[in-house]
Amino acid sequence: MSGNWKMFKTPAETTAFFEKFLPLAGNATHCEVVICPPFTNLAAAVDAVKGSNVQIGSQNISWAKDGAFTGEISGPMLNAAGVTHAIIGHSERRQFFGETDATVLKRTQGALEFGITPIVCVGELLADRESGNTEAVLAGQFLNGIAGLTEAQFAKIVIAYEPVWAIGTGKTATPEIAADTHRAIRALVRAKFGKDAADAVRILYGGSVKPDNVKVLMAQPEIDGSLVGGAALDPISFASIVNF
Ligand code: 13P
Repeated sequence: MSGNWKMFKTPAETTAFFEKFLPLAGNATHCEVVICPPFTNLAAAVDAVKGSNVQIGSQNISWAKDGAFTGEISGPMLNAAGVTHAIIGHSERRQFFGETDATVLKRTQGALEFGITPIVCVGELLADRESGNTEAVLAGQFLNGIAGLTEAQFAKIVIAYEPVWAIGTGKTATPEIAADTHRAIRALVRAKFGKDAADAVRILYGGSVKPDNVKVLMAQPEIDGSLVGGAALDPISFASIVNF
């Protein structure tokens, strides 16, 4: 289960979150728990989760190790800060910050090179869903991005399917829609990387996941976990999602 805090919370609020969250879900062993705060809170978060089973991720990562890349943060920097995961290609970065399938691939390769586990996001817009283009859009994102990885690289990534129309809208994909789409993504994986890779890859669902809908979503065998936005900001809500 992963939490994406987006652009919320200060370091002090991060510490306060973990003071409440860790006693409730800090020692969960039935799933991996990764929280992805803004860069300015990573140090406070890594410090707070020491000795627990919670891991910390960033919300972006550079493809380069260092260099003249104003505003970027690299894998070695994240590694040195105790960060283990990075969200890559979130729809908000694709929509507002010019992220493309090609940069998603480069960032994913960069993360892997420096020992950070990429959580690579894909997802369709409402217009794509309404015009019946969901699978074509996902195939494009997959083929122009993730498919550029080697088999060995692919084995180390996590995919997050986030329908853009379900993010922050309170509209969740029904468990059936989410499961169908996860199946379609797994079929793309099977065609490119083979059956074993398709069976093994973890595909998270994201988009208005809340304590009251996590159970029906996770009842779908196709859904391996979730990437939670709004409900991950509250320690009690996110703990109940982890412990559902
Ligand atoms: P919400 O859970 O707020 O819909 O956000 C989902 C998301 O974008 C997680 O990355």
